[in-house]
Amino acid sequence: MLAKLIRVLRNPTLISERLMQQQAAAFYAQRTEAENDAERLAVLGDVSAFVAEARATPTYQRLADEASDPARQTAMRQTTSLADCVTMYCLIRQFKPKVMVETGVFYGGLSAMILHAMAANGGGSLYSIDLPVESDGLPADQRGGLVPEDLRHMWRLILGDSREELPKLLKKLRQIDAFNHDSLHTTEHMLWEYETAWPYLRIGGVISSHDVLTTPAWGRFGRRYRKGIGQYGRVYGLGMAVKTADIRPPKR
Ligand SMILES: C[S@@+](CC[C@H](N)C(=O)[O-])C[C@H]1O[C@@H](n2cnc3c(N)ncnc32)[C@H](O)[C@@H]1O
Repeated sequence: MLAKLIRVLRNPTLISERLMQQQAAAFYAQRTEAENDAERLAVLGDVSAFVAEARATPTYQRLADEASDPARQTAMRQTTSLADCVTMYCLIRQFKPKVMVETGVFYGGLSAMILHAMAANGGGSLYSIDLPVESDGLPADQRGGLVPEDLRHMWRLILGDSREELPKLLKKLRQIDAFNHDSLHTTEHMLWEYETAWPYLRIGGVISSHDVLTTPAWGRFGRRYRKGIGQYGRVYGLGMAVKTADIRPPKR
């Protein structure tokens, strides 16, 4: 109890994270797909054709099928929600990134949807970073297991901590067209990943983040970089923004 109190006093952000997590859970629980469609329209314009494509992909079908069968919900329960998988597919179809980096793979539902969209665009390369450890209960050989064999030629899975692997990878790639965060959802780590990817993202490129309702990170990023971003928005749990200018944010 005392140790917990000391931890919170040292890091008061933990309180806002806990409150936001509770609010987010309540928000997700009452959400309808019609409301998600309305948000997609507001943020991305009419992407209904891409939504239909996303729902026809083998990965979506597999996850939806699994979600409807309580005996087989292992991957579905822990993987990114179907609503966010659909929005990510639309984002990739709309902005057509050739080179994209993401963190946080787990079973690979979101990675698979990115790759399906890249294939529909005519090609692309996705670099994904995830931890090699089994602390989350997922055996290492199942990490990214949802990514279909026929899409793997466009995919490179890098096993390691994003704190080490992300700066190395970005330096090697020099410029990227899109970045998505879905690894460790703490305010500090999320902001660190956004700000690490930012200088490598080309103007017109897209930065996105999963679970933006569970910490203040995406909001802080939006305020700090507002002079260099456009189309800043959120659909369900996925935040997105387009880089419009190569600004350096004011010092904290
Ligand atoms: C929310 S899950 C990702 C869900 C995934 N995008 C999907 O479609 O199901 C978070 C993942 O981030 C990984 N992770 C957590 N901390 C990390 C770190 N510091 N570096 C890289 N990956 C990390 C975990 O191993 C886990 O697989």
